[in-house]
Amino acid sequence: MLRLEGKVAIITGGASGIGEYTAKLFTSHGAKVVIADIQDDLGKSICKELGPSATFVHCDVTNEAHVEKAVDYAMSQYGKLDIMHNNAGIGGPPKPNITNTALSEFEQVINVNLIGTFLGTKHAARVMIPAKQGSIITTSSTCSIIGGGATYGYTVSKHGVVGLMKNAAVELGNYGIRVNCVAPHVISTPMTRSFLNDIKDEDFPTFYSNIKGEKCKVEDVANAALFLASDDSKFISGHNLIVDGGFTIMNTGFCIYDYTK
Ligand SMILES: NC(=O)c1ccc[n+]([C@@H]2O[C@H](COP(=O)([O-])OP(=O)(O)OC[C@H]3O[C@@H](n4cnc5c(N)ncnc54)[C@H](O)[C@@H]3O)[C@@H](O)[C@H]2O)c1
Repeated sequence: MLRLEGKVAIITGGASGIGEYTAKLFTSHGAKVVIADIQDDLGKSICKELGPSATFVHCDVTNEAHVEKAVDYAMSQYGKLDIMHNNAGIGGPPKPNITNTALSEFEQVINVNLIGTFLGTKHAARVMIPAKQGSIITTSSTCSIIGGGATYGYTVSKHGVVGLMKNAAVELGNYGIRVNCVAPHVISTPMTRSFLNDIKDEDFPTFYSNIKGEKCKVEDVANAALFLASDDSKFISGHNLIVDGGFTIMNTGFCIYDYTK
């Protein structure tokens, strides 16, 4: 069954990792997808692979004119925007200590992850409000609900996008627009591999889940985004959908089960 037939989506950060897989999944479900990213060559090569269902626009999500142009491009090309997936993100230099985190490093992550999501949500709303429909999805993270899993900028930005999502869900619900987040656990992608000193995919550590033998994969996140994008979730708004195999509900200090087996 094609779950996005006739729908038009923008995916920021769609040239790599989670966004790339999501672009492929959305087009396989009948959507037209605009990949909005700063990696032009990668983005264009994915569009070539996907054929006429996908197009690329150069878009730095920290630049309001770029985001505005990406949304206007989707409107001029397809006449509407059904799905805005604010997915572009960075981790920042891997520094766990607040005392050696430079303000510029903190700000850089906030600019891409939080300001970029604000701009994506704002410009999607601009065209979705008159249409009185739409689904806005932001890739948050398990770092949106726990501390200590990433840099200061990352944790703060991911908590921030959930607040942004909730505010927008309350306002935009008045126009029939749903706003949600999808919150992945750790997955091997270019972002996380560079965070771990350019570790190879095959050497990527297993970040365990609560489901025996399972670890988070890009398809798990893309499937959750597909659900939030499609009419299957038509009564779901203001939700931060955690995709972590139960990881964040565990307190291993308290746990009476041997979760290591
Ligand atoms: N991989 C994980 O473990 C994980 C876990 C939780 C959340 N996330 C989130 O998932 C999203 C996708 O990350 P990923 O793991 O697929 O990483 P990735 O590096 O493979 O993809 C991120 C994409 O965002 C793009 N991007 C970066 N800065 C941009 C900017 N200023 N403007 C436009 N595009 C920009 C990059 O070019 C890249 O294509 C991010 O928001 C990330 O925070 C990832």
